[in-house]
Amino acid sequence: MFYQIYPRSFADSDGDGIGDLRGIRDKLGYLELLGVDALWICPVMRSPMADGGYDVADPRDIDPLFGGMAAMVELIAEAHDRGLKVTMDLVPNHTSDQHPWFAAALAAAPGSRERERYIFRDGRGPDGATPPNNWPSIFGGPAWTRVIEPDGRPGQWYLHIFAPEQPDLNWANPEIAADFEQTLRFWLDRGVDGFRLDVAHGMAKPDGLPDMERVETKMLVHDDDDPRFNNPAVHEIHRRIRKVLDEYPDAVSIGEVWVDDNTRFGEYVRPDELHLAFNFRLAETPFDADAVRAAIDNSLAAVAPVGAVPTWTLSNHDIAREVTRYGGGPVGVARARAMMMVELALPGAVFIYNGAELGLPNVDDLPEAALRDPVWERSGHTERGRDGCRVPIPWEGAAPPFGFSTGESWLPMPPEWAASTVEAQLEALGSTLSLYRMAIELRGVRPEFAGPRVEWYGSPAGCLAFRRPGGLVCVLNASPVPIALPPGDVLLASAPSENGQLAANAAAWLV
Ligand code: GLC
Repeated sequence: MFYQIYPRSFADSDGDGIGDLRGIRDKLGYLELLGVDALWICPVMRSPMADGGYDVADPRDIDPLFGGMAAMVELIAEAHDRGLKVTMDLVPNHTSDQHPWFAAALAAAPGSRERERYIFRDGRGPDGATPPNNWPSIFGGPAWTRVIEPDGRPGQWYLHIFAPEQPDLNWANPEIAADFEQTLRFWLDRGVDGFRLDVAHGMAKPDGLPDMERVETKMLVHDDDDPRFNNPAVHEIHRRIRKVLDEYPDAVSIGEVWVDDNTRFGEYVRPDELHLAFNFRLAETPFDADAVRAAIDNSLAAVAPVGAVPTWTLSNHDIAREVTRYGGGPVGVARARAMMMVELALPGAVFIYNGAELGLPNVDDLPEAALRDPVWERSGHTERGRDGCRVPIPWEGAAPPFGFSTGESWLPMPPEWAASTVEAQLEALGSTLSLYRMAIELRGVRPEFAGPRVEWYGSPAGCLAFRRPGGLVCVLNASPVPIALPPGDVLLASAPSENGQLAANAAAWLV
């Protein structure tokens, strides 16, 4: 069971309104109480923060904003003392434009060794004023930016699949892999237990960088045939990474792999590549029993042929929170609680995004002036981006920033979150936090959760039911009316179940 921390938004120890590593350390007791096994901490390396830290200027140092190296060393030690593993987020596909390599590339000539670390090309057209190909950036606008050469004239273009502040590295250059290996070892030697690898289906680019046939201008999405991602050469990169991790017996890698096709997804978790790959099938599924069942079957089918462990996630720092996706308000909360119970009943690794355990909604009405996601600027203010799922965690008290910080939180927090704070929910038996704690504990200790399979049961229309080989039965009622529960003792239910009935928008575990 992994718990994803978006460090800017988790807990602030120094009052600057931005969460940091000492803030996380101060909350380790809470995470222990919640019952998770491992943390995935979004990027905390040195960064100018053009994309919340996914623009890394030095991958082997911690940004002072998050407390610097000393705070990381302390956090690793204290987490380990409490039996919690620490997984870091690394960004192999690109660096920050403030990385010394990029500064050197800009200062050097076309064709130089310095430029070979990135993807520089001449433009098209008589004066090279047209980008080298037609690729758009995932964050809007073209994926190329033209540079001013040291002689002051407009010159080559560099590729950035994300923001211009995130130039793509040239993984065809062996120097890049060698440096990344150094980064892996650097953190593993300091006790980090594993890595989440950002855009793990990126890195390798097709020879000749051909134009896209169908230019996808919708932001933050792409399909499997998009030449910007999922190039077969990426697997050789994963094999090299795995060789390093294999030198550290318990180290784990988790790749961010936005690939729909099951066979192609499974390739990323072959025994000599990634240990785990994020699978977004459940997160992309509406609250609909047939769709949820198909997402589960699909997720299991994708990893079964290669013998890998399935992964499950309902939300993360890039997608709207599930409460809102499922309709918002009390119904959205009820559905999110039910889906958490479906997720935790499944075999494999579960990733919980910070705040999901509090039943937080997305904050879709942040004032425009507060928006920080580069998508907002890059889209010419047509797409608000991902800040709505990154609003800080409410810890305690009756008013913002709810103990998150002693200063002003970097994104404003809704006053109505007073009812959702950790303090308000911790001792309340019916709270979402209590439900998460009970569910996580049961999943960890009960023998009924054993076995890698999911056996489907017949169920009324709009519902689903499955059984784990160990004996756990999970029932989801996504229909609008109560249904009769199957025989057995109710271990846990997301809503009170009376007279053998399960309410609409609820789930139950039976043994
Ligand atoms: C991944 C991250 C996202 C980031 C992007 C660029 O998709 O999850 O937050 O913006 O990579 O690094």
